[in-house]
Amino acid sequence: MTARHQPPEHDASGVSASILPAGPHAAAQAARVLRAGGLVALPTETVYGLGADAACDLAVARIYEAKGRPSFNPLIAHVADLAAAQVHGVFNADALALARAFWPGPLTLVVPAAPGCAVSLLARAGLDTLALRVPDHPAAQEILRAFGGPVAAPSANRSGRVSPTQAAHVAADLADRIDLIVDAGACEVGVESTIVACLGAAARMLRPGGIARADIERALGRPLAADVVAGHQESGPLAPGMLASHYAPRARVRLDARSVAPDEAALDFAGALAQGEQGAQGEHAAQSLRLDLSPAGDLREAAAHLFDFLRRLDQPGVRAIAVAPIPRAGLGEAINDRLARAAAPRLEA
Ligand code: TXA
Ligand code: MG
Repeated sequence: MTARHQPPEHDASGVSASILPAGPHAAAQAARVLRAGGLVALPTETVYGLGADAACDLAVARIYEAKGRPSFNPLIAHVADLAAAQVHGVFNADALALARAFWPGPLTLVVPAAPGCAVSLLARAGLDTLALRVPDHPAAQEILRAFGGPVAAPSANRSGRVSPTQAAHVAADLADRIDLIVDAGACEVGVESTIVACLGAAARMLRPGGIARADIERALGRPLAADVVAGHQESGPLAPGMLASHYAPRARVRLDARSVAPDEAALDFAGALAQGEQGAQGEHAAQSLRLDLSPAGDLREAAAHLFDFLRRLDQPGVRAIAVAPIPRAGLGEAINDRLARAAAPRLEA
C-alpha cells in the first residue's frame, strides 16, 4: 500500500470555506487544498462531492468528521479516466464493459483493490474492494487532472441529510467545516451514481442511480444478479451507506400521497397533487408550498430537481412533505429509492 499518513497542513474548522467559480483558477486552488490534506466541495454531474486526497488517511478522516458520518461507511474514489481507475482496482470483463459504456458518467464500480491501490484503507472502510467513479463534469475532470491522484468524495452534505445539487446547499451544510467550494451551478443528473459491484461471476446493483437498470443490463448483455434490497443482504449491509433513513429532510415524508393536508407541503409530479387540490379544501397550503418535480412527467427532469425541492419544501412549520406517486421506470427507480429512504423511520431523534 502506498497510502500516505503525513499530517496535512490544513485545518478548516471554524473558518468559512471560500467559494470559487469553476475554472482553471479554482481547479489549481482545489489541487493545492487537496495536496495539503484539506477538503474541497466539487461539482459532479450527479451531486456535489466532498473531496479529499484518497491516499491520505488524515485527509479522509476529515471527511468523516465534517460530515458527522459513521466511519464504517466506505467512500467512492474519483479518478479522471479508466486508465487511472485500473491503477487502483482490478477490472473483470463486466467491469470493463460497463466502464467503456458509461464512463465518464454517473456509474460507480465496486471492484477488488489492485496490488498498487493507493486508496487508503480508511476510505475503503477496511474492505479489500473499492468503489471507483469517473465523473462526467468538466469542473470535476479539471480538478482531478490538476490534482493527479484519486479523490475520495461522498456527497457534500452532513450525514443523513439530503444530497447537495447546488453550491448553496453545500455551504448551508458544511461552510464552516471545509476549505473550498467550487461552484458550477446546478448538477444535471441530480441523483447519485448507480453502484454496480463487479466482484465475481455476477454483476450486482448495490444502489440505483443516475443510470437506469435497463441501460446497465443492455451494456452487460444480460440481466443483473438478484437485487440487494435497500443495500442489505442477509449477511448485513453490502453497501453500508445504504442505511434506511438516509437522505432525510427534517419534516416527515409521506409517499404516494393523493391529497395534501393543510400543514403539509407538496412534492408533486406531473400535476397529480395540484389536480387533487382543485376541489374543496386546502388551497392556500398547497399553493404556497407545492413544487412539481416535472409538470411534463419527465423522470430525468424530476431526478435533477429532487434534492433541491426536498430542501426547499423542508420549511419550519411544515409537518410533513406529501409526495405524489412517481413511476418506477428508468430513473424512477433511483427517485423512488431516495424518497423511500427520506420517508423511513429516523435513526436519530
Ligand atoms: O454520485 C455519487 O456517487 C456521489 C458523487 C459525489 O460522486 N457520491 C456518493 O457517495 O454518493 P456516497 O459516499 O454518498 O455513497 C457511496 C456509496 C455508499 O453507499 C457506500 O457504502 C458505497 O458507495 N460503497 C463505497 N465503497 C464500497 C465498497 N467497497 N463496497 C460496497 N459499497 C461501497
Ligand atoms: Mg451521500
